[in-house]
Parts: sequence; structure tokens; C-alpha cells
Amino acid sequence: MICEQEYRIRRDKLVLALPSFSVSVLFSGTNKTRSNDTNYPFRQDSNFYYMTGFKEDNSILMIVKEKKKYKSFLFLHKKDKTDEMWNGKRLGAKRAKQRFQVDEIYTKDEFEKRFKDALDEKKSLCFDFGLDYSKVKILKRYAKTIAAHINIAPLIGKMRLIKSEAEIKIIKDAIDITKKAHHQLMRLNKTSKYEYELQSSIEYIFKKNGAYNDAYTSIVAAANNANTLHYIENNKILREGELILIDAGCEFDYYASDITRTIPVSGYYTKPQKDLYSLVLSVEKNIISMIKPGILRSELQRKSEELLIQGMQKLGILNGSYKKILKEAKHKAYYPHGIGHWMGLDVHDTCPYRDENFKEIPLEEGMILTIEPALYIDKDDTKVPKKYRGIGIRIEDDILVTKTGYENLSKAIVKEILDIENLN
Ligand code: GLY
Ligand code: MN
Ligand code: MN
Repeated sequence: MICEQEYRIRRDKLVLALPSFSVSVLFSGTNKTRSNDTNYPFRQDSNFYYMTGFKEDNSILMIVKEKKKYKSFLFLHKKDKTDEMWNGKRLGAKRAKQRFQVDEIYTKDEFEKRFKDALDEKKSLCFDFGLDYSKVKILKRYAKTIAAHINIAPLIGKMRLIKSEAEIKIIKDAIDITKKAHHQLMRLNKTSKYEYELQSSIEYIFKKNGAYNDAYTSIVAAANNANTLHYIENNKILREGELILIDAGCEFDYYASDITRTIPVSGYYTKPQKDLYSLVLSVEKNIISMIKPGILRSELQRKSEELLIQGMQKLGILNGSYKKILKEAKHKAYYPHGIGHWMGLDVHDTCPYRDENFKEIPLEEGMILTIEPALYIDKDDTKVPKKYRGIGIRIEDDILVTKTGYENLSKAIVKEILDIENLN
């Protein structure tokens, strides 16, 4: 759990990065209509949540900074009996005042007037440039005289790079639930089942453990489907002798986990599957062992490509000299994506990879990133030995950068061949 004080400290910190005499506005997520009076499930906007800890839609955080001092305002949905009967209880301004450490709390209908007043003698307006135009329009209507517009999203993204103790604890809890789900799936008899049956078994365990949202749509990809990177159809039957790539992670208390394992349908890997799996696994372990403060993600990327090229050469998947393969990027046909990404409130956490001068940001204590090397060999790729075609393997763990190195937060989720085979 994250305490109210932590949210206030985050706002204090954000204000240091804001210009003097500015008004900043951060909108909550919007409830999206699916059709008629049916909505998509609502999930709070991550930046708004990071700054407030408030989970309701139709809310706004406003920060008014003078020279150095600032005042924070939270606007929220009015309590209304009929609305609550249809759509659920709202916290309301009175109770919000007891809970949040913001300076002033009002109902949303007061926003426009108070925003207009706050703009008096201000020089800058800060908001998320990725905002829906309908909301930008409201801001611009009142802030016509303010020429300086500042994108607040990268400022928050930078803060979100370093996780607090409380955040790390929640991410560990999320990974622990995801571990249970992956292990249960490994134990399950998988023959004559459909991909979606495995998906439901994983998501059942997420929900049973209080993780009622997924951090992303689960990928349950049998055989050649694993070679479609964002495969989410999950509707094909599983056959003896095939592999299944499962990329599934729960969201727990707003924080993501992101885990991939590639396991055999019939419980045992075939020899060619072992060849490829062992290569990806050794690369993954190698790259994880490089993680420490100061290292660049691009160094991890380069090394993962180098090791995968060398491995593919040995297996006869890539031919020709190492130099030529690298120069012509031939390996990218089999490993086209990045080695990993930031993870936190969002599975692909919206934190920067480069600083204001476009210099790459090195790893630092408290950052969390995924490491996910892979090999994807399409079933119709005649350049590759036949035995390897139609196999797609990715292995993904979530890594915390520590003071002296790293902690693999998902190390308890088995990935050694024998361990997976023995879980049957
Ligand atoms: N699950 C999405 C990813 O691995 O990046
Ligand atoms: Mn990932
Ligand atoms: Mn993933």
C-alpha cells in the first residue's frame, strides 16, 4: 500500500520541476462508452494515479505554483444518489478532505471557474500533450493569454523511473500472483485444449488472488502463433509436441508484472526445441547478470544480439560471417524487438529512455525493467533447418536494479528445462 504522504511528497517533487507562476492540470482517466449505456472497464490514468492515488474518473488535479510555493486542488465527481445507484458509490468532497493531503477539494463543476481564477498573472500552463483534444480545448478556452505550454507527462515519467520501497513491494506481490498462475498452467494437462482455456486458467488465478485486472492482454500462443509478437486471438487448439508461449502478467493494486515462459504442450521439450530454448535461456541469464547501476540498456541490447547471432550460427540458422550478419541485420528477422522495457504502473512504463539532451539514461538503483530475449522462426522460413521452423521462444523476467547489481524479482518462476518438465 502506498500512503497518502508518499503522494504528497511526489507532488512536492513534481513542483520543483515546474516553472514558477504556472498552472498545471492533470485529468483522470475517462469512462469510455462501448455502446449505449455500457462502458469498457475503467482504469485510472497512470500519471493521475501516481500523483493522487485517487481511483475515480471525472476528476482533475490542479497545481498552482507561485514563485516557489504551490497549492494543490482536487476536483471530483459530485455525490448524487441516483448516479450512485446506477454506477456505484463516490468518495465525495467531504470524505476526500479527510483522506487526501491536497490543499483544497471541490466538486468537478467548480473546475472551470477556479482554473480561470488560478490563471491570473500566470506565465505557463502545464498539461499532458497526449491529452484528448476535448480536454485540451477546455484548457485553451481559458488560457488564451498564456503562450508557454509545457508537457507535464515527461516530468512525471522521469519520476516514475525510480520506484519507491512501497512500489517495489506491490510489484513483488503482483509477480507472486503471476508466479502462481504460470506454475499452475505448467502443471495442467495441456493436450486437446484451446489456447483460451489456458488463458482462462491463468486469469482465474490472477482474479482469485485479488488481481482483478491484467497488466495487458495475455498472449497464449501455440506453435507458430508465437511468431506473431502481439498474438492475442488465443483461439487455436494445442497439439502434442508443440510449444506454447505464454506472456501473461497480472496488475495488482495498479502495478504490473510482465512474464513470459515457453513450455511444451506434452510436458517435454523435443531436441530441436531444447536447442533453441537453451540458447534463449542462456542469453537471458547472461544479460540479467550484466545489470547494475551505470549500464546502458543499449549495451544490454547489443550483447543480446551478439549472443543470439553466435548461437544461431552454431545451430545453422544464420550463415556467413558474424560481421556480415550484424551489418546486414540478418538476425533481426528472428529477434526483431528490444531486450526489455521499463515496468511499473504501466507494463510498458511511460518513462523516458533518453534525457533532455537525448542522451541515453543509464540504469540506476530503484529502476525496474524487463529482460526478454527471444527467437522467432516462422514455419515457412525455408532458409532455416526444417526442424527449427514454426518455433517461437521468448523468456521474460522482471528485474530491479539495486545498489550493487540487480534482483531478479521473478526468479521463483521456473524456467530451467528440467524444472518445467518436472512440474508436470
Ligand atoms: N507483454 C508485453 C511485453 O512483453 O512487452
Ligand atoms: Mn515485456
Ligand atoms: Mn511480456
